[in-house]
Amino acid sequence: MKATLLSAFLLIAATGNALAGSHVYGPFPADYVEECGSCHVAFPPQLLTAPGWQRVMEQLDKHYGADASLEDKRRTAIADFLRRSASTRDKHAPTEASARLSRTAWFAREHGPTPPAKVSFAECTACHTAADRGDYSERSIKLPAGWRRAR
Ligand code: HEC
Ligand code: HEC
Repeated sequence: MKATLLSAFLLIAATGNALAGSHVYGPFPADYVEECGSCHVAFPPQLLTAPGWQRVMEQLDKHYGADASLEDKRRTAIADFLRRSASTRDKHAPTEASARLSRTAWFAREHGPTPPAKVSFAECTACHTAADRGDYSERSIKLPAGWRRAR
């Protein structure tokens, strides 16, 4: 039952991604949102390559200064979902051992090098007001006062 649900969600996620240029990546499977969307938004799997996600999922006990450990069965299911939905493009490859999607070549080109004061680029909702739904479309962007994307 769980596996069927996950596949259904996967199909929706894949279809969303196929709408080129829409930048709506969700909705995501409930398990993924529950476990990986409580401290930050559930990041779009499509914005990091499979080796990047693998690196993230292999070091959940040392997760960017937090402990995001999961019980084995859940971790495997989520890792599987991420791997299958991952990007296959070089521009989405991680550039450092910790594997951040905010440090890929694509992200740097889209966002410039410097986040607003006291905001991390990992805080997608600081600018993408519908990021909790996996929606990064232009109409939902609202930039913090005084910040402009540098080049
Ligand atoms: C206990 C809180 C917590 C949970 C649960 C959690 N994370 Fe994180 N995560 C963090 C923190 C803290 C950061 C660092 C944020 C920053 O740098 O501003 C982070 C960062 C990340 C990043 C890098 C973001 C970037 O800069 O590109 C990824 C990818 C990530 N998490 C994936 C996951 C996944 C996948 C899960 C579920 C298995 C998960 N997280 C669950 C706390 C959490
Ligand atoms: C400080 C503000 C800010 C933060 C934080 C931020 N973004 Fe963005 N993002 C932007 C801006 C500005 C653009 C460029 C929009 C454009 O080209 O018109 C953008 C573009 C995008 C696009 C392409 C959308 C489009 O319409 O071209 C995606 C996808 C995206 N961001 C994802 C993310 C993700 C995922 C995170 C968090 C890991 C994030 N962003 C964090 C400001 C931000």
